Amino acid sequence: MLTSLSELPTYKTHGTKLAVLTAYDYPTARMLDDAGVDLLLVGDSLGMVVLGLPDTTGVTMEMMLHHTTAVCRGVTRAPVIADLPFASYTTPEMAVANARKLMDCGAACVKLEGGVSVLPQVRAIIAAGIPFVGHIGMLPQSVKEEGGYKKKGKTAESIDHLIADAQALDEAGAVAMVLESIVPDVATRITSQVKACTIGIGAGAGTDGQVLVTPDLLGSFPWFRPPFAKARADVAGETLRAVREYMADVKTPA
Ligand code: KIV
Repeated sequence: MLTSLSELPTYKTHGTKLAVLTAYDYPTARMLDDAGVDLLLVGDSLGMVVLGLPDTTGVTMEMMLHHTTAVCRGVTRAPVIADLPFASYTTPEMAVANARKLMDCGAACVKLEGGVSVLPQVRAIIAAGIPFVGHIGMLPQSVKEEGGYKKKGKTAESIDHLIADAQALDEAGAVAMVLESIVPDVATRITSQVKACTIGIGAGAGTDGQVLVTPDLLGSFPWFRPPFAKARADVAGETLRAVREYMADVKTPA
């Protein structure tokens, strides 16, 4: 299991797959860390699966700082990736200032969405000595412009964009990059072309690792689960059962 970001290149060289999960609170972070999860991601999916927002564009720096602090309190080993939320990296200066705030909460690195279009921000973060994780493919923070969550890499033009984004992030010095909702063959091709570890979600099995939104894995957010995410527990069902049993006990006269 990973203990430091400096071990990432050996994972790529040896073909050891990375198991990555999201966390938004202390107890979940502590359990995932104890379980040996390689990297924890305080994703801005926080907005949807914890705060009940319709998409990630309503997530603020204050929310990310609050939850990153809680997650980092629960972790003794796994490096924590913290997301820079929507509109928090409009300029390179903002990107560095906000990345520093997340690092001050205990994060080991920061992640933001985009490739070539945000290269000045990425370069500024890395130049400031902050380890950086990229995120390309389907970009949830752009869902409104995109008109929905769409698979990437279906056309020659889309493939060219993805490869250019991946290469730009790799050359800038990203330690890893999330490949979200990308045609599997294209994600495999990117993985073989970059030095950074690729972490896939809805991008097939050919990446260097996989990331899942933990409530999707645990079945604790039953109202929506993407088709590629296999629920391996039914926390929502078990919660309802326990709550109903408790209510029945309380309401039954002795
Ligand atoms: O916010 C998040 O949880 C993410 C994952 C979907 C990779 O960025």
